[in-house]
Amino acid sequence: MKVNRLGFRDYRNLKENELIPGPQVNVICGDNAQGKTNLLEAVWLFTGGRSFRGARDQELIAFSSQAGAVLALDFEAEEREQTAKITIGRGAKKRAAQLNGVDQPAASSLIGKFCAVVFSPDHLSLVKEGPSMRRKFLDAALCQRKPAYARLLSQYSRTLAQRNTLLKDISYHSELLETLEIWDEKLSGLGAAITIERKRYLERLSEAAGEIYDGISQGRERFAVRYDSGLLRDGGEEAGYRERLFSLLQNGRKEDLNAGFTTKGPHRDDLLVTVQEKSAREYGSQGQQRSCVLALKLAEAALLAEALGEKPVILLDDVMSELDASRQDYLLNKIQGWQVFITCCDPNSISGLSQGRTFYVENGEIRG
Ligand SMILES: Nc1ncnc2c1ncn2[C@@H]1O[C@H](COP(=O)(O)OP(=O)(O)O)[C@@H](O)[C@H]1O
Ligand SMILES: [Mg+2]
Repeated sequence: MKVNRLGFRDYRNLKENELIPGPQVNVICGDNAQGKTNLLEAVWLFTGGRSFRGARDQELIAFSSQAGAVLALDFEAEEREQTAKITIGRGAKKRAAQLNGVDQPAASSLIGKFCAVVFSPDHLSLVKEGPSMRRKFLDAALCQRKPAYARLLSQYSRTLAQRNTLLKDISYHSELLETLEIWDEKLSGLGAAITIERKRYLERLSEAAGEIYDGISQGRERFAVRYDSGLLRDGGEEAGYRERLFSLLQNGRKEDLNAGFTTKGPHRDDLLVTVQEKSAREYGSQGQQRSCVLALKLAEAALLAEALGEKPVILLDDVMSELDASRQDYLLNKIQGWQVFITCCDPNSISGLSQGRTFYVENGEIRG
């Protein structure tokens, strides 16, 4: 997968222009607050997801624009040249997308058409914060690999919300208790399927990320990531997950009714990231935590490449800080052969890269 051209108008602070990247590494340099991350974010939107900064669509439109933002992408995927267009309107007009000239039912229809993996400093929360970020990471990675997983996940979320509403209603209408079993059954089927997908993906991710971390730390530290799920705690066959989740839900009824929400299931699961068998969250240094997230992200890219049969584009925002010279060296080495967009303040920090194109961003203007 390769970006040949990114065009933008009224997108954040970027002046109307286009970026013609090279097929390999593209370094985007500039001082703080000039528009470097905005550029990566614009490329990222073509994956069909939300901004990786968690921004709402309205925030993406240039302050000065009445009409709204327009982005255009020429890219290569599935061995052909394709074009995509995204428009974000003011007010009720939502984000809309076109692919190869055809209007798409939703911006999310681009999922799986153009694929990228992004590292941003916000992703350090993957190691530093609570489980919801880790579940999001896992789910987002799986959604890009398999659109069917995205459907599964949204069915699960809807069923979960319905069960939670029912749990609250039962305290006023005890006769509704009988209907809970239907939701338990539905939720355990969907939940078991999610657990199986996540577990299989994580086994492979752990292996790939372990190898990358080994390279980053030059064999000095051992990395692992494990799926921490109530359903898997005592092992058991995948075929039995549905029954196990069903009995977890049934046995947890009293707790659920007291809490007013569902306390068991894959929406409560976590990933356990360790360095030298110790929790990276609790004991890792800044550099180790950053290395963990990088290893996870690069492993995500490698597995996505396997699934797609082509390499996704890699977006690395402010990746170099807090890494020592040997870790930086490895990283630059590892990403050769991929199309990469990498932002930095100081071009010297990536002098280890022999080939590639450099762009300078100043106050939303891009110079090649
Ligand atoms: N909707 C918007 N319209 C105009 N400018 C914006 C908008 N959103 C953010 N900006 C500006 O973009 C700049 C930040 O760009 P960013 O790409 O995050 O910087 P950096 O180069 O440090 O990565 C800030 O100056 C901010 O005010
Ligand atoms: Mg930035």
